[in-house]
Amino acid sequence: MTASNPQTAALQVEDLHKTFAGIEVLKGISLTAEKHDVISIIGSSGSGKSTLLRCMNLLEFPDSGRLRVHGEELELGTNRRGVRSRRFQRQIERVRSRLAMVFQSFNLWSHMTVLENVMLGPCLVLKRNRHEVEAQAKKLLARVGMLEKCQMYPDCLSGGQKQRVAIARALAMDPEVMLFDEPTSALDPELVGEVLRVIRELAEEGRTMIMVTHEMRFAREVSSKLVYLHQGRIEEQGSPEQLFNAPQSDNLRRLLASQY
Ligand SMILES: Nc1ncnc2c1ncn2[C@@H]1O[C@H](COP(=O)(O)OP(=O)(O)O)[C@@H](O)[C@H]1O
Ligand SMILES: [Mg+2]
Repeated sequence: MTASNPQTAALQVEDLHKTFAGIEVLKGISLTAEKHDVISIIGSSGSGKSTLLRCMNLLEFPDSGRLRVHGEELELGTNRRGVRSRRFQRQIERVRSRLAMVFQSFNLWSHMTVLENVMLGPCLVLKRNRHEVEAQAKKLLARVGMLEKCQMYPDCLSGGQKQRVAIARALAMDPEVMLFDEPTSALDPELVGEVLRVIRELAEEGRTMIMVTHEMRFAREVSSKLVYLHQGRIEEQGSPEQLFNAPQSDNLRRLLASQY
């Protein structure tokens, strides 16, 4: 692996710590996504995978550590009175719009049509021209095979369709990095394939992505790097071949054995 350059890396976290109610859930995580990387994070339930993704796009605030998004460094810590800098407050929205998240449970707005869901972020956050946003949203919906459903409401869609809309919504922000938190875990088995197909296409076109997944075969095929999280620490990381063919950690060996 080549040494990473903090100025060009798409996303870099260093020594990230997060504690909930006295329990340290992230115990010093350092991870770099270079441009075009597809990083899959695996680990058993409760190991901190979602917390790590949520800290990356500041849905949770890390207690300490460093976060850089395409060279822009964020001041994560608080001062002695627990107050965060004003500069940090301004950075939050910018970071969130550059790191689009796709959730396990879709999180679409149920009172808005498919098209409105995809248009909301670019109109509201990026303040872009409505006509342009609409044209782009329709293109993105066509890409994920959902254009003909653009006037429907999420409740009328299957889980796989909802997740494809959620991916179009994330793409509409033209993010630096896409974060996926178990994007297929809430789907019926027959709907998993249609969502993985879309994610695979994004990987092939060079999108930078960080993905938490239990789809081991998929992770092996699309990832440039695999990260194994265990009890809040990165216990092992490397190429998919390294981790799948010759895992060093006993815990990882056990996890892989339980998944096949
Ligand atoms: N908002 C929260 N408040 C308290 N504890 C939390 C919160 N979010 C996560 N945790 C705890 O942190 C640990 C890691 O959770 P999580 O990141 O969701 O793990 P994973 O996604 O790997 O299953 C778990 O023990 C969980 O109960
Ligand atoms: Mg999780």
